[in-house]
Amino acid sequence: MADRYLSFTGTAPGRFLTRRLGLPQPAELTRWSSRRPALDGHVLHLTAGKTDLGLAPVLARTGLPQDGTGRPAAVVLDATGVRDVDSLSEVHAALHPVVREVAASGRVLVLGAPLDPADHHQAAAQQALEGFTRSLGKEIGRGRTVNLLRLTDAVAAESTLRFLLSPKSAYVSGQVIETGDQEVAAPEDWDRPLAGRTALVTGGARGIGAAVAETLARDGARVVVLDVPGAEDEARALAERLGGTALALDITAAGAGERIVAALPDGLDVLIHNAGVTRDRRLVNMPAERWDPVLEVNLGSVLRTTDALLESGTLRRGGRIVATASIAGLAGNAGQTNYGASKAGIVGLVRSLAPRAAAAHGVTVNAVAPGFIETRMTAAIPLLIREAGRRMNSLAQGGLPADVAETTAWLAHPASGAVNGQIVRVCGQSLLGA
Ligand SMILES: NC(=O)c1ccc[n+]([C@@H]2O[C@H](COP(=O)([O-])OP(=O)(O)OC[C@H]3O[C@@H](n4cnc5c(N)ncnc54)[C@H](O)[C@@H]3O)[C@@H](O)[C@H]2O)c1
Repeated sequence: MADRYLSFTGTAPGRFLTRRLGLPQPAELTRWSSRRPALDGHVLHLTAGKTDLGLAPVLARTGLPQDGTGRPAAVVLDATGVRDVDSLSEVHAALHPVVREVAASGRVLVLGAPLDPADHHQAAAQQALEGFTRSLGKEIGRGRTVNLLRLTDAVAAESTLRFLLSPKSAYVSGQVIETGDQEVAAPEDWDRPLAGRTALVTGGARGIGAAVAETLARDGARVVVLDVPGAEDEARALAERLGGTALALDITAAGAGERIVAALPDGLDVLIHNAGVTRDRRLVNMPAERWDPVLEVNLGSVLRTTDALLESGTLRRGGRIVATASIAGLAGNAGQTNYGASKAGIVGLVRSLAPRAAAAHGVTVNAVAPGFIETRMTAAIPLLIREAGRRMNSLAQGGLPADVAETTAWLAHPASGAVNGQIVRVCGQSLLGA
């Protein structure tokens, strides 16, 4: 279902009218395309507090020029050295004069340090960066995003810096992401990082899953598109186009995990749990027949197939698991007690399994939490609620399946080994669950 309001506000009369009426002014976002793979402009590198991060050479490798005339496409503020309230004034001093200059659809990226449990002054100042980032995200406008990345090692964070400073993160705003200091190997080719790897996408026949399959194939992966037998034709057509294979399987069926293991005799590198269903109704009106399938598809089968693929060793060392949560699982949503429960369960799974899977199997476990994404699932929402869902975020528009797919591809990246246990919302900084 096309966003006609967004198209209207892109015209001169639309801009005039919506400004006069004080209505939301969504900006057309600049997304990745092969013709436009990078942000259009230079990056401005600023610091607050004393830093020894060694960011400059890593920033240089992102390909964004560090000097230039005109508006910067991105501003990176290294605030890892902010340790007390006084040094917070350096955050203000650095960004106040330049924030107006950041180009439309540009990036503000604040770099912070992990909170120090032995120093409450440092912890207070570093936590302050979260409130700062989220507030700036809500006021900056013009399709610009603001995120906070907590890191201790710039080299380990390179894949994350590249993602956040590219058009691929157009709909990711107001997020706090933490990367570790694990040693990571740079891919031979940053444009095809998944070359030689196999990825399985559940629910891959359509919607977000199909976009994920396309994006992972673009990045070089051999993709296995799994979907229910009823969607086999769509799954097969997509797989053929991408040079992959289709697997017709209901993931809630008995022995589904073993069937997947059997279908992957050469092993797996990337496991994307995307299949999901809704059966909305308020709890008072919700019979068990509407509760059980949602918990089964969205959570039970995710746990079972994860266990089967890890325990059998099918998911290789260096493997990646990306599960799909939802902002409904973080903020709650009326009529979605079943769905909210299942998606919150994904968050629990990620938090618990991430450190253990890394230690035992060398596998990372993360989740994407989409907000309002334009798919068949959201096209079925009644008009007024759909329109509210689209506008109630800092970018005043819905996201596209490609936005979730790009975030997934970053988490699936071989150089993202230092990104683990993260729940990354792809929601344009939704006002729900913010
Ligand atoms: N669209 C949104 O705004 C949004 C928001 C938050 C989260 N999500 C989540 O993103 C994921 C994809 O959503 P979408 O909007 O693309 O949905 P969709 O309904 O368009 O696609 C879901 C796919 O999963 C498949 N599927 C369902 N049950 C299955 C099963 N038992 N076995 C195998 N495949 C199964 C379906 O056949 C379908 O192809 C879901 O997990 C959903 O909960 C979507």
